[in-house]
Amino acid sequence: MCGIVGYIGKREAAPVLLDGLKRLEYRGYDSAGIAILKEGAINVAKVVGRVKQLAESDRMSTLQGTTGIAHTRWATHGKPSERNAHPHGDCTSTIFVVHNGIIENYKELKRNLEEEGHTFKSETDTEVVAHLVEKFKKEGNDFETSVKKSLKLVKGAYAILVMTTSEPATLIAARLSSPLRIGMGNDEFIVASDPSAILNYTQEILTLKDEEVAVLKDGEFTITSLNGDRVIDREVEKIDWDMEQAEKGGFAHFMLKEIFEQPETIENSLRGRVIVDEGLAKLGGFNAVKDELREIERLTIVACGTAYYAGQVGEYMIEEYAELPVETCIASEFRYRKPILTPKKDAVLVLSQSGETADTLAAVSEAREKGVLSLGIVNVTGSTIAQNTDAGIYNHAGPEIGVASTKVFVSQLTVLSLLALFFGRQRHMSLTMGKRIAEELLKIPDHVRTILTMNDSILEIAKRYVNYSDFYFLGRKYNYPIALEGALKLKEISYIHAEGGSSGELKHGPIAMIDPNFPSIFICPKDSVYEKNLSNMEEVKARQGKIIAIGTEGDDELGKIADDVILIPKTLEMLTPILSVIPLQFFAYHAAVLKGKDVDKPRNLAKSVTVE
Ligand code: M6R
Repeated sequence: MCGIVGYIGKREAAPVLLDGLKRLEYRGYDSAGIAILKEGAINVAKVVGRVKQLAESDRMSTLQGTTGIAHTRWATHGKPSERNAHPHGDCTSTIFVVHNGIIENYKELKRNLEEEGHTFKSETDTEVVAHLVEKFKKEGNDFETSVKKSLKLVKGAYAILVMTTSEPATLIAARLSSPLRIGMGNDEFIVASDPSAILNYTQEILTLKDEEVAVLKDGEFTITSLNGDRVIDREVEKIDWDMEQAEKGGFAHFMLKEIFEQPETIENSLRGRVIVDEGLAKLGGFNAVKDELREIERLTIVACGTAYYAGQVGEYMIEEYAELPVETCIASEFRYRKPILTPKKDAVLVLSQSGETADTLAAVSEAREKGVLSLGIVNVTGSTIAQNTDAGIYNHAGPEIGVASTKVFVSQLTVLSLLALFFGRQRHMSLTMGKRIAEELLKIPDHVRTILTMNDSILEIAKRYVNYSDFYFLGRKYNYPIALEGALKLKEISYIHAEGGSSGELKHGPIAMIDPNFPSIFICPKDSVYEKNLSNMEEVKARQGKIIAIGTEGDDELGKIADDVILIPKTLEMLTPILSVIPLQFFAYHAAVLKGKDVDKPRNLAKSVTVE
């Protein structure tokens, strides 16, 4: 995810900005840049690569001055390059901008601005803001008004810093759905997307809220809403985190931080992609191949580990709602099994957080060799898989640092729901059903927020079970892959033996293991297989097996069978996996912490598996 730092005060800005960028490195990035204002000119330095390279670049010696902005970029629109690195300027290079987030309507804004004579230098969505500010300033507005008028036109998410040579003692900061904090120093302000870039200078930090604009000038600040209302009651917090805590946003581990980020992750994956009135999913990345996709007769989903389980959920979704046959394969098997793939009839869809997984990449090559359309759902922009597939959708989940995948898994499920909607509406799905899915999808982030409030109660459950050495995770239909994912999560970070399976398969063998020392975690929402699942739970109970059940709010039956119950909000059956997995993430996390394991870097595992 991109990082922003800004400085305005009395000292040289460059060292503060570079220090801030270094503190943000943990978030992941591909390029970095800095702009500093002095004597009516703004000087800029950019590199593809590390902040260290930026600090050592020749251009840095020309960057002197006490007002500046800087950025680490994690590519979303346009490949990693110096041209696409922030800060971005207007036509006259007198207005510069750094931005986190996504401007959904940038193509339309860019087209209009180009028609009015503006010349763009980058492929980014961000650059439109610099040109919009230029346009409004030319129309006679002051700097602040120009920024506000620009931001009112922007749809999407932003944390943004803007400076201009025409008001050299002013820095403007604004946000919508992307964090931005202002550090209050002595006659100076350090603004950043993340407190870790500020804490070296001050612990007094103010958090901007959505649609607020802060004007930092002469050691004073004012905050107004985009509509101009003055905000007077914004409190300044004292944040006394150490640096390590700051990088983790105050959480004990990246994994926990990433679990808590999931509502925003899902919002980012949905942003600009759901058209409720038309019951449609707008997947820009598939535009070029949408006619070919309408004609395919089978989709093969290929992935590894957690991404494979997401693919399995996708299989259920797409088959049920688009009536398109889907097969999900483990990538390391797919490449050696001589898959039968027919051009035009088949398409291969790979899922990968890193976009670098060797086995998954091999599946892309296989598809291409066979002349079959290859598609990707990838988190890391510009990764090898993203570059090698014919068309793709980015997760927009931001970097995932914990080795155990959490937020990218829910993002994969979210994107697969969109894909089911996309294929469904291309084929047989009614407008009414399309609208229903679209509406329910938009409610998911708030449902996730509700589940996040259960963290403490799940910790208590984990305490009661952590000393068991074996677990079953069981579910049916949409929640069968979630059972597999729950077991993987527990074993990969706590090293407790766990098996995932289908509840319906229990009596075909696994039930032999059940005794009072072998607990089962049932995922049993009120869905089309609820009664069946309940019967399987009874079978376990009859053998004195302990049960933790994850069900739907309002369900009074589960408590009569299960020893512990976690109830999640009600949603469409196809979307329940996005919710039901979260208690399992918490359970695995707490079990691992209680056992004193290295949650973010479990033994023997790597975040990106680039070897066979
Ligand atoms: O980067 P990818 O999504 O391709 O990685 C696939 C698996 O290696 C990954 O999901 C792995 O299973 C995670 N450690 C699970 O938490």
